[in-house]
Amino acid sequence: MEKRLQEIYEKIDRKLQAECARLGDRIPYIPEDGQYKTDMREENRAFWTNGFWAGMLWQMYNCTKNPLYKKTAEYSELSFDKAMEEFVGLHHDVGFQFLHTAVADYRLTGNPKSKTRALHAAGMLAGRYNPSGKFIRAWNKDMTGWMIIDCLMNIPLLFWATEETGDPRFAYIANEHAHTAMRYLLRADGSCNHIGVLDPVTGEGLEFPAGQGYASGSSWSRGQSWAIYGFALAALHADKKEYLDAAKQVAHYFIANVCRTGYVSYLDFRSPKEPVCWDTTATACAACGLLQIADMVPELEKDLYRDCAVDMLMALEEKHCDWDPYRDGIVQNGSVAYNRQMHVPIIYGDYFFVEGILRLMGKEFMIW
Ligand code: GLY
Repeated sequence: MEKRLQEIYEKIDRKLQAECARLGDRIPYIPEDGQYKTDMREENRAFWTNGFWAGMLWQMYNCTKNPLYKKTAEYSELSFDKAMEEFVGLHHDVGFQFLHTAVADYRLTGNPKSKTRALHAAGMLAGRYNPSGKFIRAWNKDMTGWMIIDCLMNIPLLFWATEETGDPRFAYIANEHAHTAMRYLLRADGSCNHIGVLDPVTGEGLEFPAGQGYASGSSWSRGQSWAIYGFALAALHADKKEYLDAAKQVAHYFIANVCRTGYVSYLDFRSPKEPVCWDTTATACAACGLLQIADMVPELEKDLYRDCAVDMLMALEEKHCDWDPYRDGIVQNGSVAYNRQMHVPIIYGDYFFVEGILRLMGKEFMIW
C-alpha cells in the first residue's frame, strides 16, 4: 500500500506542477477538452469553488516546499480582495474560499495580511446568522430562510476565528448552525436533505426542495458527503459526541450505498437506475470525512471508516483518474448537479482526492 500511495503522490506532484506552469495566475474550475480555458477570476470572482485550487497547492507546498505551489496559491488569495470589496456575490461559501487561501496561508507562513483577510470573511459569515431560526442563511437574493447541508463545511472558519481571537461568538454560531442542521437536514435513516427552507422570522421548518439532487426526498451524494465531513469537522472543533454520531450515521448510509457500486458514488442514491450518473467528487469528499471519523473513534472502530476510505480512493484512482500531465484535471466523472454539467473533472474533486491520498500517507495539512 505504501508503495502504491507513493506512486500516486508522485503522479499528483508531476501533474500539479504542469498545471501550475500552464495556469500562471488564473483560477481553474472545470477543464474543457482537457484544458482549463476559463479563468474564474474573470468568469465569477466570487464563485464558491475559487479556493480549492489554492487549497490543493498549499497541501502540496506543505509536503514539498516547492515555491511554485506557494506562489501560485497566493494568486487566488489576492483575487479575493476584489471579491470582498465588491461584496455582492459572496455568501455562506466564504468558508470554502478563505479556509483554502487566507487561513491556509496564515497557518503555513504566518502572513498577517492573510489573517486579516480571513477574519473579515469570518465576520461576514457570522453576519449571515439568523438568530430566530439559529442557522446561517444560504445564498443571496430572496432566499432569506434557506439553509443547506453544504454550509457545514464552511463553519470551520468560525471555529478558527474563535481560536484566533478568543471571541466565543463565532463558535457559538457554528454550534447553533450545526444543531439546526441536525434537526432539519439530517434524516433518521442516515440520509440528509440538501436544502431546508425555514420561516426567517419564526425559524419554523417549512419545506425541503430538491436542490442539486434528483428530487425532493432523494439523496444527493455530494450533500451526503458534506454532511459526513462537515459533522465530523464540527465534532473535531467542538468536541461534541452528538456531531460525531451524526457524521457516523451519514457515513454508514453512504458506505451501504457505495459498496454496491464498486466504491464510487452515484450522483444521487435515490434516482432512477438509468441513465447511470456518477459523482466522483462526492466519493473523494466522503473518503476524507471517513478518514476524519477514523481519527476520532476508538481503536476497534477505526478500520470500518479507514478501510472504506481506502477502497473509495483506490477505486477513483483505478477507474477515474487521468494522469496525463499535458491534460488538465485529475479525477474524471464529477457532476455539478443532476442533469447539469455531469461527468466532468471538477476542481473540488481533485482537491478532496489529493487531501485523501495525503491523509493516507500522514502528510496532510489540516485546512479545515
Ligand atoms: N456547494 C455546492 C455544491 O456542492 O455543488
